[in-house]
Amino acid sequence: MSAQLQAEERVWDPLVRITHWTIALSVLLNYAIVDEESVLHVWIGYVALAMLGLRMIWGLVGTERARFTSFPPSPRAALAHLGSMFSGSRRAHTSHNPLGALMVYGLWAMLFLVGATGMVLDIVGEYGMLGEAAEETHEVAATLLIVMAAIHVSGVLLESRLTGTNLVRQMTWLSGRKSEET
Ligand code: HEM
Ligand code: HEM
Repeated sequence: MSAQLQAEERVWDPLVRITHWTIALSVLLNYAIVDEESVLHVWIGYVALAMLGLRMIWGLVGTERARFTSFPPSPRAALAHLGSMFSGSRRAHTSHNPLGALMVYGLWAMLFLVGATGMVLDIVGEYGMLGEAAEETHEVAATLLIVMAAIHVSGVLLESRLTGTNLVRQMTWLSGRKSEET
């Protein structure tokens, strides 16, 4: 058990894990549970945006694995990874795998769009040309974000099965430190 634990422990630093789960929770709450017209919706939205901002800074100056340079967007590498998922010729990746990386950038971009249009709505309201455009875009982008998140989770589960690694556990591991047995 210890070898596996040690390998898993170091995967994602606390900032990555905290921003991930805060963003995931905020998006799900705002999409499915919290009243869209409420102050709470706006607050949760700003929390998600703050986490996104923090993660973007961390992508530049954070730990090795969390940095953008560790998972550059590459459609070619993503396609190659897709092929390898079915041919069984797997390579280990130190950060997000190339296919996951594309989805991660997509999720961030979509969250940014949802957040930016949400801020416009918060500031100018839903009327007038700008407000109406922001409302339409906010709604469509929020739906796309949820669809992408569903694909993201399916991808995580599939990749976990194919590689025999529990990726969700890597993202949730709470103690975050080298364990007792080291
Ligand atoms: C975190 C992700 C978010 C999700 C998933 C989300 C989702 C949604 C959805 C589905 C609606 C209903 C749209 C409609 O039916 O017209 C809505 C409305 C709204 N959202 Fe968000 N939202 C998010 C973030 C934000 C943020 C960051 C803000 C503001 C800073 C914001 C402000 C608003 C406002 C003001 C409305 C009401 C628009 C209206 O009066 O119809 N949202 N949001
Ligand atoms: C609305 C919901 C969600 C959104 C917007 C979202 C978004 C993201 C983003 C942006 C990343 C990259 C993390 C980073 O580098 O900072 C990520 C990674 C990850 N997410 Fe999510 N996520 C959501 C829900 C979930 C759920 C429900 C699970 C678990 C079942 C999950 C499991 C993971 C895992 C395991 C990774 C790391 C993947 C890897 O090993 O490369 N996510 N997610």
